[in-house]
Amino acid sequence: MSKALDGVRILDFTHVQSGPTCTQLLGWFGADVIKVERAGEGDATRGQLRDIPDVDSLYFTMLNHNKRSITLDTKNPKGKAVLETLIKECDVLVENFAPGALDRMGFTWERIQELNPRMIVASVKGFGPGPYEDCKVYENVAQCAGGAASTTGFDDGPPLVTGAQIGDSGTGLHLALGIVAALYQRNTTGRGQKVMAAMQDAVINLCRVKLRDQQRLDRTQVLKEYPQYPDSEFGQAVPRAGNASGGGQPGWILKCKGWETDPNSYIYFITQAPVWGAICKVIGQEDWITDPLYATPAARLPHLKSIFERIEQWTMTKTKFEAMDILNKFDIPCGPILSMKEIADEPSLRATGTIVEVDHPKRGKYLTVGNPIKLSDSETEVTRSPLLGEHTDEVLGQLGYSPKDIADLRAEKVI
Ligand code: COA
Repeated sequence: MSKALDGVRILDFTHVQSGPTCTQLLGWFGADVIKVERAGEGDATRGQLRDIPDVDSLYFTMLNHNKRSITLDTKNPKGKAVLETLIKECDVLVENFAPGALDRMGFTWERIQELNPRMIVASVKGFGPGPYEDCKVYENVAQCAGGAASTTGFDDGPPLVTGAQIGDSGTGLHLALGIVAALYQRNTTGRGQKVMAAMQDAVINLCRVKLRDQQRLDRTQVLKEYPQYPDSEFGQAVPRAGNASGGGQPGWILKCKGWETDPNSYIYFITQAPVWGAICKVIGQEDWITDPLYATPAARLPHLKSIFERIEQWTMTKTKFEAMDILNKFDIPCGPILSMKEIADEPSLRATGTIVEVDHPKRGKYLTVGNPIKLSDSETEVTRSPLLGEHTDEVLGQLGYSPKDIADLRAEKVI
């Protein structure tokens, strides 16, 4: 079967998480991804959070599937010459160095355009133009500067970061879309272009509903679906909403049977208006169907807390999976709080290729997250991450370097 991005060559100059998630996606769609790393050390994540001595970490392996790895000292003149050849041969250069690093290496946008006017240069940076544009940025910095931390957590606690890597992987996704759009536009213009995704911008985009709420708050001084309503005062800025739903249907996380010993024995429960009658019947509170204090969404808003306490009396009599089965029969939207262990063991996620077992020559078998985007005509096969420099000879050979040239470059520590 052909792949969506067959024939597209990616010069992958990325490291850590944000850039590698982007190029991994492109690899899953069939692009030939050539990852350029420094000889000896490679991507810093190869050695970070190791669970097996001297073996590429899961951090690295899980972000670098479907790629080839070459080592190259791109600050050495001979290494620069190899990079120039790669730039001429590839369609897209993806990088997430600290601001200015590519320019300092001598590969400005102008120079890259001279070498290959069709080249798309895609970058992740922490911030776009402005006061912080020169700053180095990691995941949680982006979560904080992008509005996620100030709106996550409980009202009486500090700002919180989330485990979902919205700053890194979230930005990688945004960048991948920008690259595919630029490749599409190149079909008509014949030209490359710069694609830039700032981590702060990506997080702000993912926090769009909180900017919605800021403007609602500015106008009305109240957010009635937030847990602060009606007992506490609202301040100037959108407060942390605990587990309240971000949409128009109130929701909360409720305890289920076994919560005393299992930290994940909880369910997310949404009191969607069209199934209010069914909810009342399931929990044995039929009088709420007609009681004017409960019968309409607006009437329920001032006492959502006590409503959820009552529903929780019912959920606590069921495991999260029993509750799911019963509630789904009535189309009541809800979701179990799944632990990573439960996700790893879930057969349906294995069947769809969302969780994949991969074999690695040094680490053996491990689990990874496969391609979350399914294309019916471009099936994803997840292949293991490359060892450092595993494909240096193969790639240089394809670029026209002879075995002797390659041996000389190796002797001079350029590769
Ligand atoms: N050969 C020679 N030099 C190389 C090289 C190679 N193959 N690959 C990288 N380098 C050099 C770079 O040119 C740079 O040199 P310089 O500082 O002298 O210009 C140097 O290695 C380090 O690059 P840098 O990006 O500064 O790495 P860092 O480890 O200091 O910082 C980040 C890491 C992630 C903080 C930084 O890259 C960053 O802010 N990136 C943008 C935002 C981002 O993607 N953050 C999320 C990461 S998940």
